Amino acid sequence: MIHTLPKTAACFENARAVAEYKLHAQARLDPTVWRYLSEGSEAGVTLLANERAFERARIVPRPLADVRGGHTRVNLFGQEFAHPIVLAPVAYQKLFHSDGECASAMAASAQDALMLVSSLASQTLEEIIQAAEKPLWFQLYWQGERSRTLRLAQRALAAGYSAVVLTVDAPVKQAVMQLPEDVRAVNLETPLALPLLLQGQSQVFDGWMAQAPTWADLEWLRGHIKLPLLLKGVLHPDDAARAIALGCDGLVVSNHGGRVLDGVPASLDALPGIMAAVAGRVPVLLDSGVRSGSDVFKALSQGVAAVMIGRPYIWGLATAGALGVAHVIRLMRDELEMTLALVGCTCIGDAQRIILANQGSKMGQA
Ligand code: FNR
Repeated sequence: MIHTLPKTAACFENARAVAEYKLHAQARLDPTVWRYLSEGSEAGVTLLANERAFERARIVPRPLADVRGGHTRVNLFGQEFAHPIVLAPVAYQKLFHSDGECASAMAASAQDALMLVSSLASQTLEEIIQAAEKPLWFQLYWQGERSRTLRLAQRALAAGYSAVVLTVDAPVKQAVMQLPEDVRAVNLETPLALPLLLQGQSQVFDGWMAQAPTWADLEWLRGHIKLPLLLKGVLHPDDAARAIALGCDGLVVSNHGGRVLDGVPASLDALPGIMAAVAGRVPVLLDSGVRSGSDVFKALSQGVAAVMIGRPYIWGLATAGALGVAHVIRLMRDELEMTLALVGCTCIGDAQRIILANQGSKMGQA
């Protein structure tokens, strides 16, 4: 897929932090694409809150620990990964680099990372998993009704995807920028027509939301997917409990990177309530606002099994294709290892037992 070293090699090789990729990406991308990638919804309150929540959390160092032999390995549903940094599903990746999702999948594979491929991928599910050479997870958007949704999930499973993550926080299609001709959701069937509204009916309740999934649909889907099924976009503890009661195998605490309903809590702030409701019954992942290895650590310290990044790896993709994505993952992993070492942890399990400085009076290792 990557035939030559990108012309950008000189600039990105010197990048010392993920934030530098943001600058490179902004300089490279068309302003409309940059806005599509960067902006949150409305005033961007949640977008900002996500990053602020990580900034507020403080880590207490624990010097003098012998951390030789430490590692960041994680196991998710029987799959081993070298570290808990996961590539979140991001739509239309050919917008950001001509190698698209395949480049991200190659990078994930090279860095022994998990990637979730979006229902709105701009390359086929089959070619993406072939580029990865290892199982990926499939992010499922509800396709307006049950049979279309199941056809899409079954196509992914037949192609070798090893888990399905149903995203439920964006049931109504957001206004996406005008896509260029060569970029589209190639894996989807033609969209369903919206129901005709009767006099006095609401476009929202009776139009768009008539094609959104409900708890009954989730229960039905659970019955049809034999592999792990996770729910992405959970922020309320009661919803977490209900999803588990319906048989979901895991949850992703996420506000879609602040792109859907503005004013919802930062994912990190919503996490304690969810973790209490879940009580260790299923793995919980988190995304929205993770920008560094120490952010990854801060989320792990609240007990999550793994942490997803969205925009940061797309900055890498836009800058230098697969190499850029791989470098972003590697930079974050290095930062995570350094943070773990300075906090006296030798594995992810140790990090999950840490209490951060701003969480009550107890400081440091529990
Ligand atoms: C997304 N996200 C997303 N989520 C999803 O479930 N399906 C999708 O197709 C997309 N598409 C998408 C496009 C773009 C441009 C962005 C930035 C995000 C949300 C994504 O999976 C994740 O929840 C957020 O990106 C996490 O926040 P950060 O890391 O971007 O702050």
